[in-house]
Amino acid sequence: MTPAEFRALGHRLVDQLADFHESLEARRVYNPVPRDTLLRELGNGSVPNDGAPAQEVLDDIFALLRDYSRHNGHPRFMGYIVSPGSPLGALGELMAASFNQNVAASFAAPMASEIEMQSIRWIAELIGYPSDGDGIFVSGGTMANVVGLQVALSAALGPSLRSEGISGAPLRCYTSKATHAWIKKAVRMCGLGTDSIVWVETEPDGRMKLADLKQRLQQDQAAGRHPFMVIGNAGTTMTGAIDPLPDIAALCREHGLWFHVDGAYGAVAAVLGARYPELAALAEADSLAIDAHKWLYAPVEAGCILVKNGKALSDVFDDDPDYIHNAPSHEGAQFYRKGPQHSRQFRALKVWLALKRLGRSGYTQMIARDIARAEELFALVSEHPELEAATTGLSITTFRFVPADLSTDTDGAASYLDALNEALLTEVQASGEAYISKAVSEGRFLLRACIINYRTTSADLARLVDVVVRLGRELDRQLRPKSPTQ
Ligand SMILES: Cc1ncc(COP(=O)(O)O)c(C=O)c1O
Repeated sequence: MTPAEFRALGHRLVDQLADFHESLEARRVYNPVPRDTLLRELGNGSVPNDGAPAQEVLDDIFALLRDYSRHNGHPRFMGYIVSPGSPLGALGELMAASFNQNVAASFAAPMASEIEMQSIRWIAELIGYPSDGDGIFVSGGTMANVVGLQVALSAALGPSLRSEGISGAPLRCYTSKATHAWIKKAVRMCGLGTDSIVWVETEPDGRMKLADLKQRLQQDQAAGRHPFMVIGNAGTTMTGAIDPLPDIAALCREHGLWFHVDGAYGAVAAVLGARYPELAALAEADSLAIDAHKWLYAPVEAGCILVKNGKALSDVFDDDPDYIHNAPSHEGAQFYRKGPQHSRQFRALKVWLALKRLGRSGYTQMIARDIARAEELFALVSEHPELEAATTGLSITTFRFVPADLSTDTDGAASYLDALNEALLTEVQASGEAYISKAVSEGRFLLRACIINYRTTSADLARLVDVVVRLGRELDRQLRPKSPTQ
């Protein structure tokens, strides 16, 4: 491709993407079509024998992605904790791919490495985490937490872990039942197995019960097991609950346990200062996972693990193979020696651009606004006679549809409401008008709206309520078992 062709194609693509951004609000959030349709549209043939003109290839695939994607940046996408992305982030991705830096180390990508280190420091400063520690960008929250767990394990077992692997008394890590599913993957990946997880009970709003944590810890100590870490949540996935982090930090100090915080979603809310006093204890975490592709609004993928003791990462990952020429004069970060990957994308650029563009005040405003929207939704559903508000935490609100004339204290009402709301969720998603997801709290099936979206307005919340109630009434007419007298 000549530079002139690149210029022409790039301008055309940016125009198409700008049109797409402009048209987002008028589009369906989601267009559920059978897989057959996707394969037919894509063309399900073998690898092409001959190539095709670049413009044709780009135009075709642009149209397919525009028409057959779930639009996470749509103002009424409130389904999951995933960022809406941003046009600036998209330009950052284009720039990162164009420079094609392998951010393995400073000698491979000098400026990109400094940008990554600066982004890590800025994120730490933004949320009040000690900025003299270390960190590294990884693919997302799951991987950031996996690295946190591996580092905790290495701190517990010492250098023997590197050569001999896991040995000794059965290891135990403690976390609440509301913790994201990353924990199960992490313990399997680290060779611990899921029996190593001690699931601590939660309060109705999803916060960890401290008394239960203490009791389980005592039991395991008495039984000769080896507790090594406690994982606190700064914003649970289902309800946005923040665990009692200061108390957990104190307990970890008392028992010499590693204190890890899964802040993939909510740690960034620390930018609001006194509003969430528990988040002050982020500063005490030995390791902290953050997901920039959640509340820092970066396009996927971008996760980040911060550690207080910089050596903790290299204790696990450091190796300097013979085929790398790492001259003594090479200064700067060596990411391949402190993280799981060797070749690495330049994920930090899109994050750095947003931090530079918005600054602390920009993030403070945007995060406060998302929380205000979630609280506004909670108020709307609380006032509505056919909706029952359940929880609101950070920028997540949960609720359910309850038909006005349903006696909720009769036999079968609870299971009917669960089935009705589950069917309703499928209908709302399929409607394309709004997109929400689910939570399960105290045995109830709930509808869940996560707002980390600078495009969502009050009008979008009102529209969501309308859609839920309209479709809920229709479904109730179809699904409610008829009483014998009817
Ligand atoms: C609290 C929490 N931790 C971890 C994760 C996993 O993050 P990722 O999907 O980026 O791997 C999520 C995802 O929603 C989350 O909400």
